[in-house]
Amino acid sequence: MNPAPDAPILFFDSGLGGLTVLGPTRALLPTAPIVYAADYAGLPYGQKSEAELAARVPALLGRLVERYQPRLAVIACNTASTIALAHVRAALDLPIVGTVPAIKPAAALTKSGVIGVLGTEATVRQPYVDDLSARFAGGKTVLRHGSPGLVTGAEAKLRGGPVDSAVIARAIAGLRDQPGGDAIDVIVLACTHFPLLADELQAAAGPRVTLIDGAEGIARRIADLTRGQQWPAAATSGLAVFTRSAERPSPPLATLAPYGINRIETI
Ligand code: DGL
Repeated sequence: MNPAPDAPILFFDSGLGGLTVLGPTRALLPTAPIVYAADYAGLPYGQKSEAELAARVPALLGRLVERYQPRLAVIACNTASTIALAHVRAALDLPIVGTVPAIKPAAALTKSGVIGVLGTEATVRQPYVDDLSARFAGGKTVLRHGSPGLVTGAEAKLRGGPVDSAVIARAIAGLRDQPGGDAIDVIVLACTHFPLLADELQAAAGPRVTLIDGAEGIARRIADLTRGQQWPAAATSGLAVFTRSAERPSPPLATLAPYGINRIETI
């Protein structure tokens, strides 16, 4: 059955990182109704256990799907995708798009044969990353580093706060200081928060290094999966939904307005 024109696309992340996937999706589907959900009560996902996320993410997405009736859901979070994508797909009856580290394009790009993967601590330890490396980067060296500081830094930057250059330097050093790390020429930003710090990371990594992430590819996948469906004639105001957190208030609307979001709800 074809979804109604006003059926939204649901984006889901622990925080504001998923906006880096929403941005290129809006460029391809400018009138798509958007619900952007951030699990502020659960942020940071990168510090949670596999068992916790495998239970939490499908349960929360189930609530959101029931409430907002999206045509498609995007898990715009590498940590949640690498751990819970299969659980979510098993639990919910709608198309689910996940976000996985862009190791395949990185392998096609590297000349030195040494790729860095920067993600959350939970993402970089996933067997999913071993599988991607074995399937798409055979014969190359894939070095990984988990940086929770970059998640905090990206959230702060988007709210207009300063970025701690020591956090950026530590993240790059975490890759470079590993054996063979000097030869890294491509770094995969394997957390949707990290492209928000691309300028700072590029400056620290230097001009020999190319940073890549999967956002454009995910946007194309969303466009493909919704091809032929109807959309509103003009853009409607997007909604952001935050799970309630005592320590982390939802951001001001001005932070979200550039992404077409004009309303905020807390659940
Ligand atoms: N944005 C998330 C990701 O892509 C994780 C941030 C967090 O640690 O909650 O992995």
